[in-house]
Amino acid sequence: MEEYAEIILRLLEEKASISSDEIPIPYSCLHGVLLSLESKNQIVFEIKEKHKKVLTDEGKDLLEYGSQEYNLFNSIGDNGSDISILEKFPLGANYAFKNKWIRADKEKVYRNKEAVEDSVVKQLGALSILTEKEFSDLKKRKLVDQSKTNIYIISKGSSYGIAESCNVELTAEIVANYQGQKFKKYNFNTVGNIPNCGSLHPLMKIGEEFKKIFIEMGFAEMKTNRYVESSFWNFDSLFQPQCHPARDAHDTFFLKNPEFAGSFEDEEYLKRVQDVHESGGFGSKGHQSVWDRREAMKNILRTHTTSVSSRYLKDLASDFRPVKLFSIDKVFRNESVDATHLAEFHQVEGLIAGEGITLGDLMGFMGTFFEKLGLKNIKFKPAFNPYTEPSMEVFGYHEGLKKWIEIGNSGIFRPEMLGPMGFDESVTVIAWGLSLERPAMIKYGLNNIRDLVGHKVDINFIKKCKIIHF
Ligand code: PHE
Repeated sequence: MEEYAEIILRLLEEKASISSDEIPIPYSCLHGVLLSLESKNQIVFEIKEKHKKVLTDEGKDLLEYGSQEYNLFNSIGDNGSDISILEKFPLGANYAFKNKWIRADKEKVYRNKEAVEDSVVKQLGALSILTEKEFSDLKKRKLVDQSKTNIYIISKGSSYGIAESCNVELTAEIVANYQGQKFKKYNFNTVGNIPNCGSLHPLMKIGEEFKKIFIEMGFAEMKTNRYVESSFWNFDSLFQPQCHPARDAHDTFFLKNPEFAGSFEDEEYLKRVQDVHESGGFGSKGHQSVWDRREAMKNILRTHTTSVSSRYLKDLASDFRPVKLFSIDKVFRNESVDATHLAEFHQVEGLIAGEGITLGDLMGFMGTFFEKLGLKNIKFKPAFNPYTEPSMEVFGYHEGLKKWIEIGNSGIFRPEMLGPMGFDESVTVIAWGLSLERPAMIKYGLNNIRDLVGHKVDINFIKKCKIIHF
């Protein structure tokens, strides 16, 4: 390799650029040597495809031993030869007749001329100056062919001529005596082969995008490791009445085993929740109906991550400080499965707790949050949630679909929820939630949720999905 590199560098001393045709080193070594010189900036090179005219094996034979028609001609005696001689030169006979070099009667073959020139051999010896017609005639006779080769055009690189003896590999000796030594530069831009293996599901990637936005805005993540939740945290603590239709088995998955949550950690809080449901408080009349502890203790698969928010807020109340919290995780609803609904999906939820936070703050915050997702234009519509007042649905204008789409739900948590937890009146908590699947479907142009989740998902689609930016 070293000598070959030397040869190339020496050839470049005389010329601005050289072509690989002129380099007397084996073609198979060329590419490696050039890459090595290029990596040290000693040369630059480009590759051009070249069609080369070459002799086939038959062509090479012919060049050496003469064409059949020529050899036939020379084998015929002055007074002609027996017709059987033609059989020795089956191909040549045709050409010799065609060229009118020979003639024959029933018994004998005769020469028409004193001497002939072996034009085929002459042509084979001078491939580079043949006309196209001549070349294609020889090709038809399978004596020549075209072959594609790469020609390297090499010229001096920025470090050409600078004496170099770079260390490419590091050994213990080199490291021990590293002073004064030259080292090959690291190429930080080189990219490795991407192995054909696992990849993140698009929902996970979108989840990561949301997480980045939350973290960027100073939010901390809530722990969501609790698919099974008591109705209490999922509904009652949120002031959702026990007769609310969402608490029906048609909307919620109830657990058979264990059917009920065990003990409850804070009986006093439970009592306060019961009171606010039955008779009100914190400026409210309550639901004016009997509150059943058994109903509250029923185990369910959580229907929203607001149950997680509720647990965190309860803990916060006893030691209040302003917080910004978020969660992203799975929730479950007992709905009939169709193109846009599954019985389980992911929710993204955020909350900000502080003193004197207003609806204006919520609207302003929503604007910033969704703008970071790429939805610049948002609108609010009054809505109802059992646990927020006021409540607002959030709509975003989707540039791609050219229409307003519902992207989330939001509101200010009710005093009937925060009061029993122990929050001071001056504290407000704004919160919002949205599904992860919805933006994913819009982003990837899917109109069937089952293309994204479930057993029909195409693994190649999953692999191709890139991190999204709305
Ligand atoms: N829990 C609501 C839902 O499931 C979302 C929400 C969260 C709404 C917080 C308001 C406040 O859609």
